[in-house]
Amino acid sequence: MIEPIQTLTLPQRVEWGAGAVTRVADAVTAVGAAHVFVVSDAAVAQAGHLERLLAVLPASTRATVYDRVEAEPTTEAVEQAADALGAADGVDALVSLGGGSVIDTAKNAGVLALNGGALRDYEDGADPARAISRVLPNIAVPTTAGTGSEATAWAVFVDPARRLKNAIYDPRLVPVAAILDPELTVSVPPDVTAGTGMDALTHAVEAFVSRLANPATDALALQAVSLAALHLRRAVDESADLEARAGMLLASFLAGAAFSNSSCGLVHTLSEALGGFYRLPHGVTNGVLLAPVMAFNAPSCAARYARLGTALTGVVGADAAEAVRSLAADIRLPRSLGELGVARADLPALTAGAFVWANDSGNPRDVTAEQIHELLEHAVDPRRERA
Ligand SMILES: [Fe+2]
Repeated sequence: MIEPIQTLTLPQRVEWGAGAVTRVADAVTAVGAAHVFVVSDAAVAQAGHLERLLAVLPASTRATVYDRVEAEPTTEAVEQAADALGAADGVDALVSLGGGSVIDTAKNAGVLALNGGALRDYEDGADPARAISRVLPNIAVPTTAGTGSEATAWAVFVDPARRLKNAIYDPRLVPVAAILDPELTVSVPPDVTAGTGMDALTHAVEAFVSRLANPATDALALQAVSLAALHLRRAVDESADLEARAGMLLASFLAGAAFSNSSCGLVHTLSEALGGFYRLPHGVTNGVLLAPVMAFNAPSCAARYARLGTALTGVVGADAAEAVRSLAADIRLPRSLGELGVARADLPALTAGAFVWANDSGNPRDVTAEQIHELLEHAVDPRRERA
């Protein structure tokens, strides 16, 4: 059988290691930008990272700063960023310095400012989808290790009016450069390190068992799993450990590249439904759901889980879902959705929202609405006996 043609879309330039933020200057020069729009948020500015980045830009480069990105950005927040970008004259590149919310806001604001319309015109599943004609080169500098947005073609947003989370997908949204500096992540507190780290691990696990996986995404995903297994506990427990922080940044990048070129699966489908409903931290809901969804998927991908079990533990034949469960416990992640305030009364609406996408995600096992409801019910209160 002749294999179909596959495409791997990755940033042109990836720099990592302590002090890599200085390489932003090379990346800006490489794209020939005279005026950059720097997207960031208050916490990143407060930590001094924004000042550090601005100091290393080439002297001839003009910078307009937008540092008002909010966590889990809404359509309105993206529109504000797009207005600021539109008002800045002659911008020829974006520099996004922050977590996934910042990098995604930069991508989405760029789409709106250059192409007009509203986010829902371009979102995944829009019918008819409006074409994106122009995208600005984006130099992404993550300050958390998790979303992998510096490697992906996805740009997520929350639409409060519809109580859903959706995203724009376009391979041109893959940043032109990813600058991975662990010194920018040492001030991330343990609970955020844990949540974002589980997001990276979820990307890697879901990409590895995706129906859209290929040998190239397998390589990215498997190495991301090994790095997360090796470094996540230490990044949480010893925040200043640069080796652990660098390992997690690389894991996050590789996992992002893996799922952007294959897909995520049921954990993300459920998490997006929860994120649209409650605006909960994405990585934390992924972390709570990952082991139960792996147990659900196991009949469809046992051989792949065996490989993941080995990557997670170093022990051949180890149970992958169990390894994830013990990792989540070690990094003190909440054990249930109930602890996060998810109410049983909302489960029918959440189930309906998730089911719309559930069998288009690339997840290895088909799922019914009843099975989604049961998974969520068990995740709200794992102590309840399954029916
Ligand atoms: Fe994610």
